[in-house]
Amino acid sequence: MIVTIDGPAGAGKSSIARKVAERLGFEFLDTGAMYRAVTLGAIRAQIEFDDVDALVDFASGVQLKWKNSRILLNGDDVTEEIRSPIVTSAIRHVADLPAVRKQLSKEQRRIAKGRDIVTEGRDQGSEVFPDAECKIFLTASSEERARRRQEQLIEVGRHLPLEDVLRSQDARDEEDRQRPIGSLRPADDAVVIESDGMTLDEVLEKALAIVAQKQV
Ligand code: C5P
Repeated sequence: MIVTIDGPAGAGKSSIARKVAERLGFEFLDTGAMYRAVTLGAIRAQIEFDDVDALVDFASGVQLKWKNSRILLNGDDVTEEIRSPIVTSAIRHVADLPAVRKQLSKEQRRIAKGRDIVTEGRDQGSEVFPDAECKIFLTASSEERARRRQEQLIEVGRHLPLEDVLRSQDARDEEDRQRPIGSLRPADDAVVIESDGMTLDEVLEKALAIVAQKQV
């Protein structure tokens, strides 16, 4: 069974998708990490972001591997480094390219084939797995997402004003929504969870109930 969980940045997709997979005994695939890893690789290879041919070429030759929930880029563990702000702000140059999306989507389908898996991203239900048995779109208001993000940043010692967090989050939402292919949107048959005011546990139980309904 394939369960897709899509939604905007800061909606808590990763935590929920991981926990849903754990509770169901399913595999888990973080597709954002794949876009992040290719972006990091391009930065390391000093490819100019306006050189589309070089980017596509690079992406097609790159090797991504998963090992115990860690992501390896050409054999190098980049699990932490792909979360750096430099990578986050450069991702659109890679994620906007249809040829790169096609290649990563193909790889995502290959990984999911024949498996019980929860796959998380922006386009999983709408484009990569249109026939997935269960599709969830997890979202929350911009303010709520920014507040949660601000709290996470404080935990790692970064104190940013809420307006700054909100501004960069809005910019990323806009980039994710405007993308011509693979844009952020709920699939027509996705169940939307609007998580404002809900605890992580409440969201998890709701997501599990949605999956259970699709399993019968
Ligand atoms: O989920 P995460 O925030 O790690 O994703 C980083 C970026 O990767 C997103 O903002 C989006 O631009 C891109 N992405 C994508 N398609 C996916 C997953 C992520 O374009 N399926």
